[in-house]
Amino acid sequence: MDYSRKISERQWNLPGKGELESRREATYIDDIIQKDHLQRRLLENLDGVETVFDGGAGCGRFSILLAKRGCRVTHFDISQPMIDKARELAEEAGVLDRITFVKGALEDLNAFADRSFDLVISFDAPVSYTWPNQERVIAELVRIARRKIMLSVSSRLGTLPYLANPIQKNQFFLDEEADDPFVRWCAENRDAMIEGFRFDRERAEKLWADGLMGGEDEIAEYERGGAPWCITYTFLPEELKGILTADGVRNVRLSGPGACGRTIPREILVKIMKDPGQRRDFLDFCYRFDSDPSVCGMGKDNLLAVGDIPAERECSGMP
Ligand SMILES: C[S@@+](CC[C@H](N)C(=O)[O-])C[C@H]1O[C@@H](n2cnc3c(N)ncnc32)[C@H](O)[C@@H]1O
Repeated sequence: MDYSRKISERQWNLPGKGELESRREATYIDDIIQKDHLQRRLLENLDGVETVFDGGAGCGRFSILLAKRGCRVTHFDISQPMIDKARELAEEAGVLDRITFVKGALEDLNAFADRSFDLVISFDAPVSYTWPNQERVIAELVRIARRKIMLSVSSRLGTLPYLANPIQKNQFFLDEEADDPFVRWCAENRDAMIEGFRFDRERAEKLWADGLMGGEDEIAEYERGGAPWCITYTFLPEELKGILTADGVRNVRLSGPGACGRTIPREILVKIMKDPGQRRDFLDFCYRFDSDPSVCGMGKDNLLAVGDIPAERECSGMP
């Protein structure tokens, strides 16, 4: 089944997608908290790292940061609009010469040799969009890594409560008047979403069992010419750790970016975010809280794994 790749490509190729994605941290508080966590963890893991592969690198949130730190980065993404936006931002940041942009799908990493990058990262769920190939994709990402791998994927435990909360995204709007089509849609439809909501136990049980968000409905919408949200595979913490360990990754550490933030009402989050001192202290606090492995999986919809690649790998990664 190749649909998840085709659907993902169409969704991420929508006009303006690169521009909207590049503004996420000016729009959504959960993105501020999540990207702040990823950035801190990333900066802690750069010792001896000269080359990086960023898989599903989007508009360059991390590839540009790494280039600014002196790394040579391969920025890999399925979407041309995302790459175009990243190139524009890299030029503005003066780091174009340190980034190689490659358009491609994570499902095919044949062009890259074993152990070709000191560090391999894939942040904010690109691997989750590669269902049903997610395990093979992880094995391939491990194969091309020499020292470390860092993956953030959609978390099943983080996603399940969303099924009981049709207005979960409203909690994280920095500004309800923001010029963003999704913010406007959520704000306008808030009451109707509550009114029309009914907890669907069967849907929750299904997600719990198979980890899959989306499927037949998305395929039908795609066939009608639409650009539905990507079919998403959600991982359990021990499952992700097990996959990486079986691929030969050692010392896998898990965390749950966003776990603390989701417990706090919007009015309070906005207040904290608008005060620079409180915001800094709160992000420090979230990082510490969300790094506790017992909350991993509960964050936004992300689960982060960081692991070491041994000098001599026992498993080659490729099945
Ligand atoms: C939510 S964005 C994350 C961007 C970036 N990693 C970050 O954390 O800011 C997901 C990105 O994954 C890319 N993507 C989705 N499916 C992919 C696939 N199969 N292969 C490569 N990239 C993919 C999308 O085009 C999009 O740019």
